[in-house]
Amino acid sequence: MTDRSTMTKTSSGFFVSPEAPIVAANPVATPTSPAPDILRCAYMELVVTDLARSREFYVDVLGLTVTEEDESTVYLRSLEEFIHHNLVLRQGPVAAVAAFSYRVRSPEDLDRAVAFYTELGCDVRRNPEGFTKGIGDSVRVVDPLGFPYEFFHETEHVERLAWRYDLYTPGALVRLDHFNQVTPDVPRAVRHYQDLGFRVTEDIQDEDGTVYAAWMRRKPTVHDTATTGGDGPRMHHVAFSTHEKHNILAICDKLGALRRSDMIERGPGRHGVSNAFYLYLRDPDGHRVEIYTQDYYTGDPDNPVITWDVHDNQRRDWWGTPVVPSWYTDASLVLDLDGNPQPVVARTDTSEMAVTIGADGFSYTRAGEEEALPDWKKGEYKLGNQL
Ligand SMILES: [Fe+2]
Repeated sequence: MTDRSTMTKTSSGFFVSPEAPIVAANPVATPTSPAPDILRCAYMELVVTDLARSREFYVDVLGLTVTEEDESTVYLRSLEEFIHHNLVLRQGPVAAVAAFSYRVRSPEDLDRAVAFYTELGCDVRRNPEGFTKGIGDSVRVVDPLGFPYEFFHETEHVERLAWRYDLYTPGALVRLDHFNQVTPDVPRAVRHYQDLGFRVTEDIQDEDGTVYAAWMRRKPTVHDTATTGGDGPRMHHVAFSTHEKHNILAICDKLGALRRSDMIERGPGRHGVSNAFYLYLRDPDGHRVEIYTQDYYTGDPDNPVITWDVHDNQRRDWWGTPVVPSWYTDASLVLDLDGNPQPVVARTDTSEMAVTIGADGFSYTRAGEEEALPDWKKGEYKLGNQL
């Protein structure tokens, strides 16, 4: 149970606290071995079922740069990246995520990763040659929440193309920004990732302390990964950033011009959480990709933690644009270290979709005026009222 009287309500309608107001009832044990020092989310390895179609989407439509490719794999990077890749597309039988990969500060951090996860009883594998091209000594684990995590330090440096404006497109993707993971028990996940060295920047919860989602960072942005409450372990999305908002609008225009507007799932819009401008796309396999820009600096150790009320219509879209149901329900499978899909466990806590839309849900734009939503607007939030 979270005591909101200990939080400060801001003039923007959300609450702030010095520390994350999230307590795990069923925590993963905290290892005595120190955690590896994670620098940032670095790349995702995606298994795709039609490599040519996926390559066309990520290269020809979104404009990612091909660092290297062969008959079964494409290695892609964003324009400001200097490591070998931010995204690996690998042909396989089942669309899924093979690795959420993080760069660590030093080679010794790989020893720390081995000790940390071995103590937790996880499947831990180390490959001095790396699991993908362009990446050296690496550790892959299935973490206690069921996600395939990778840690590496050594990587092949490639040219940072940030100054190559001749290569930029109107919707140019410049950095990998974050991952988003679906997990049934968000407080348990938060506590575990805090043990791994992450710090919470924002979360969504209700008055009773049910936590629906949380955002956590290593680099000084809003997040390197987020946990969204739902059936999991699954991958909700991978996010690339653009320099400015107009780059996101250009991607929408381009998809319209290509008669591929059906790849747009949600947005464009302004998030409440993170304050970023966003767009959600679905790739040819249904993997969700977010295009994201202009969140805020979080690097001070006393950066305030923001808590949003789950009933605040502006938490997920600052303009109050409703979230589409597929955004809550759909996500990608994740693989174990042998390439088998991880079993999906149902969430038992209430779902965000159920408490905010549908017959029993309610939402507000101004706290204390829950009944003030105009009748014509209610249909956007109440699924049963939709035509
Ligand atoms: Fe995101």
